[in-house]
Amino acid sequence: MHLMNRAALACIGALAACAPAAVAAAADPAPAATAPPAAPTTTTTDARDIHSFARPGEARVTHVELDLRADFAAKRLAGTAALDVQAAPGARRIVLDTRDLTIQGVTDAAGAPLQWTLGTADTVLGRPLEVTLPPETRRIVVRYQTSPTAGALQWLTPAQTAGKRHPYLFSQGQAILTRSWIPTQDSPGIRQTYAARITVPRELRAVMSAEMLTPEGEAVEGGRAFRFRLDKPVPPYLIALAVGDLAFRALGPRTGVYTEPSMLERSANELADVEKMVAAAEGLYGPYRWGRYDVLVLPPSFPFGGMENPRLTFATPTILAGDRSLVSLIAHELAHSWSGNLVTNATWADFWLNEGFTTYFENRIMEALYGPERAAMLATLGWHELQDEVTAVGGPAAPDSRLHLDLSGRDPDAGMTSIAYEKGAAFLRTVEQAVGRARWDAYLRSYFDRNAFKPMTTAGFLADLRANLIGGDAELERRIGIERWAYQPGIPQNAVVPRSNAFARVASQAQAFAAGTGAAQLQTRGWTTQEWQHFLGALPKQLTPAQLADLGRAFGLSRQGNAEILFAWLQLAVRNRYQPAVPALEQFLTSQGRRKFVRPLFAELMAQGEWGRSLARSIYARARPGYHPVTSGSVDAIVK
Ligand code: BES
Ligand code: ZN
Repeated sequence: MHLMNRAALACIGALAACAPAAVAAAADPAPAATAPPAAPTTTTTDARDIHSFARPGEARVTHVELDLRADFAAKRLAGTAALDVQAAPGARRIVLDTRDLTIQGVTDAAGAPLQWTLGTADTVLGRPLEVTLPPETRRIVVRYQTSPTAGALQWLTPAQTAGKRHPYLFSQGQAILTRSWIPTQDSPGIRQTYAARITVPRELRAVMSAEMLTPEGEAVEGGRAFRFRLDKPVPPYLIALAVGDLAFRALGPRTGVYTEPSMLERSANELADVEKMVAAAEGLYGPYRWGRYDVLVLPPSFPFGGMENPRLTFATPTILAGDRSLVSLIAHELAHSWSGNLVTNATWADFWLNEGFTTYFENRIMEALYGPERAAMLATLGWHELQDEVTAVGGPAAPDSRLHLDLSGRDPDAGMTSIAYEKGAAFLRTVEQAVGRARWDAYLRSYFDRNAFKPMTTAGFLADLRANLIGGDAELERRIGIERWAYQPGIPQNAVVPRSNAFARVASQAQAFAAGTGAAQLQTRGWTTQEWQHFLGALPKQLTPAQLADLGRAFGLSRQGNAEILFAWLQLAVRNRYQPAVPALEQFLTSQGRRKFVRPLFAELMAQGEWGRSLARSIYARARPGYHPVTSGSVDAIVK
């Protein structure tokens, strides 16, 4: 008992770094002689999170228990969040994050009212909810409801779904939106287990990033209730919910897909390799620790390509190309089950630890499953994206071209660019090349094990790298330049640049076209999606209407069903004010709301004088009502 208390206190002292799992482990009575040494110093993996009001050193949430009803008419979730609290001795309050929540009351576990106050609203952070804690309070219960405009939630009308008959709801928590539907400490360093009971209209189903306890739901007054539990502690941005007319199909023994019934066949076919992906990932970096791995294919307004919600990746339907050519996105979200969901960026300044590691790992899964050439093509596309992104953030001296970000006074979203993904991946490739793949893979696997269920900072990673890979090899450290990679802007000279032989052939065809060869004469037989993407990206930025017409006609580009190829084509078309592509552009922008596609197209339109600006305004007027707040928020800043 004594031991447990001390461990708990150490955790509180260590601020955000302590997961409930660590407390539980420490509580396991071990014989004194073999007691493990005290946890290594946490100073390098702790960090104050400027994007949360929480003061976990005083009192922190360890477990969330939701009992919510989804009211589609009012576009509100309403009910209670019971929070288990671990408080330091003498702590008299706990501070939670909220945003646009209506708080109806706070009690202790026995129902006795507790005092609470909502602080002033900050445009980025929302409002702190401070609850007074009487001594010995272990659990508080917040009764609340969400706003119809909650940033994390999108309430879809039946018209916005594939089936057109039922409404739909989904959440998107990353980065700091969970506080708009759950009053908790919304910081990635404050891991929490969770359980939930979600009541929905009888004809709908609820799914969450957790173990599903009631696959068919339970009949309750006014609907069906679904219960869930996740007993592994996760950062709150990974708590996720979707409600809709959902069907399920198994893909393998521990994998499956949820989507609307009319999307099930296509989705299951596209995702046929998911079971093998999990095995490939495990083969690389150790056991998958979350039990099942399912994918939810959402309606087209889902603002991201994918979101790595534990046990249940959320994915855009724009990956359904019909030929499985865009499944690297699933490899990416799956890889987050290690990088991000197991070892988690301590704050959003360390976002690259989630995305850079995951982009690297994604590529390794693709290589293991589909071979080095496909992986090289994907990595090369990423490398080109990195060059463009360095320019977009202001060039190689720009602060936002750094891995470790300075986000003071900013919405974390502002710093979340491809730099984290592609410069991060390039850094890890460079370390891999310096030490050799075998040594690197062994290190990375041990890194995930050592740091599982813990937050990680950039400094913490560098310290881990020094302790467990570089050792005292000063020459190796100098050769890699780890500090420069982590903290300086631009792309270091020693970056390992991916090379694809297939792309060299594609580039020569793009040159031939630029030099006057007709599109029909180009050698494009057998090209994969990635080769088409590279081809369109390698064409001269300025093309004549005749050249665009030739390309469009020869390759049927405006009728392209592959969203990535269509996107690359539409960028080219808009940049050159190519009027015949406008109907396809309008169709694309009004039929899906993935921010990665939507935002650059509106930005390019706005850069094209009155031709583009008036198009942008008229298309956006039609498209905006269908977009998720994440997407419309970004496009508002461009078009308005
Ligand atoms: N975790 C991200 C999505 C995200 C990032 C949401 C930042 C909110 C804030 C996810 O894993 C991701 O990176 N998705 C990419 C696809 C991936 C293949 C690069 C996307 O949505 O485009
Ligand atoms: Zn990611």
